[in-house]
Amino acid sequence: MPNLDRCLNIWDLRDAARRRLPKGVFDFVDRATEDHIAVANNRSAFERIKLRHRALVDVSGRSTGTTLFGKPASLPMAIAPTGAAGLCWHQGELELAKAAAAAKIPLTLSTASMTAMEKISAAGGPDKGGRLWFQLYVWKQRELSHELIRRAHRNGFEALIVTVDSPVAPNREYNTHNGFALPFRLTPRFAVDVARHPFWARDVLLRYYTGGGFPRHENYPEEYQRSILSGAGARDGMRADSLAWEDIAKFRDMWPGVLMLKGVQRPDDAVKAIEYGVDGIVVSNHGGRNMDSSAATLDVLPEIAEAVGDRATVILDSGIRRGSDIAKALALGAKAVLTGRATLYGTAVGGEAGALKAVNILRNELDKTMAYTGCRSVDELSPDIFFGGDRQSNRLRDRAMSAT
Ligand code: FNR
Repeated sequence: MPNLDRCLNIWDLRDAARRRLPKGVFDFVDRATEDHIAVANNRSAFERIKLRHRALVDVSGRSTGTTLFGKPASLPMAIAPTGAAGLCWHQGELELAKAAAAAKIPLTLSTASMTAMEKISAAGGPDKGGRLWFQLYVWKQRELSHELIRRAHRNGFEALIVTVDSPVAPNREYNTHNGFALPFRLTPRFAVDVARHPFWARDVLLRYYTGGGFPRHENYPEEYQRSILSGAGARDGMRADSLAWEDIAKFRDMWPGVLMLKGVQRPDDAVKAIEYGVDGIVVSNHGGRNMDSSAATLDVLPEIAEAVGDRATVILDSGIRRGSDIAKALALGAKAVLTGRATLYGTAVGGEAGALKAVNILRNELDKTMAYTGCRSVDELSPDIFFGGDRQSNRLRDRAMSAT
């Protein structure tokens, strides 16, 4: 896979994905919402923090391994739910699941994924050495969501992640400009876009078509399941703007495994989540894809980590592109991170091998950051590795220091 060999970092994978995917699909994966302020803020929060290397520490036995919810992971990282891998590669979600199992990190399957959870469980579940988490979008008809939870439990998913930052559909205006929509509508503009990307048309679209039809949202209940080519979808029914804490209480009753909320940005919400029996808090702004004015996740992390203490596991996502980003998130109180786009770019370039390449790039970069900063284990990553010369990192460091 010559394309993959030339990719040395996540940005190279992004460039290769941009060349391979139709513009409508690439933009859907890569872009965010409105004026793209949140997505830029997420990145600049990481870039603002500077590190100092520590001299003369024997780091020869270092490890990026950790424990997440009592089980080992080779890296403080899991794959975020996206439901878009199946557009990047034929049956891309299966490829991602196999890559996650091979990398020994958990995979989160989205409610909106195009592969049935039964198939994901067979390809990347515990029998294959994998760890699976299931992400829940909640339908207005709650019983449909409750059935989905029961189905995830029957299929051996160890964690349920309820996304709580999406009460309404975001303003992703570029999708309309590109003639791109999910479910797919073959608008004239998107048809031209596909025609300009013959390899994608052949390797992804045609393979679906010849292999039994275009993919469906296979985890949706029967009444919502439609081909992704059909005009109507379940998205409106899915955006439950009535989702509230009573639902979390119900999910807690129903779900015996690990329960997480994804899309928390406020310490009071995190504390309330713990009161409702939640085990994990995912500090996220959906990769900047929902509310464009939302604060960078790294900026809100110290406050949330301080409020949570050791009562729940704090995970961060939105903007991870380098291993040093993972180090900074851990230093400020996260136990792990999720990656959305980074692993999707990899999937778009090389399926399982591409997703694995993305994970290994981040692993290698984290390993180097640990070596430079004199950390032998991920638990040693603390604000002590920061250079406090600029006001921003001072503020973050002080907050995180007072939390320890
Ligand atoms: C997402 N995300 C997302 N989140 C979720 O809870 N359910 C979903 O179905 C999706 N779908 C989705 C599609 C695409 C194309 C992307 C890029 C993202 C958000 C995702 O889980 C995660 O929060 C962000 O992707 C993290 O930011 P980065 O790593 O992409 O910068």
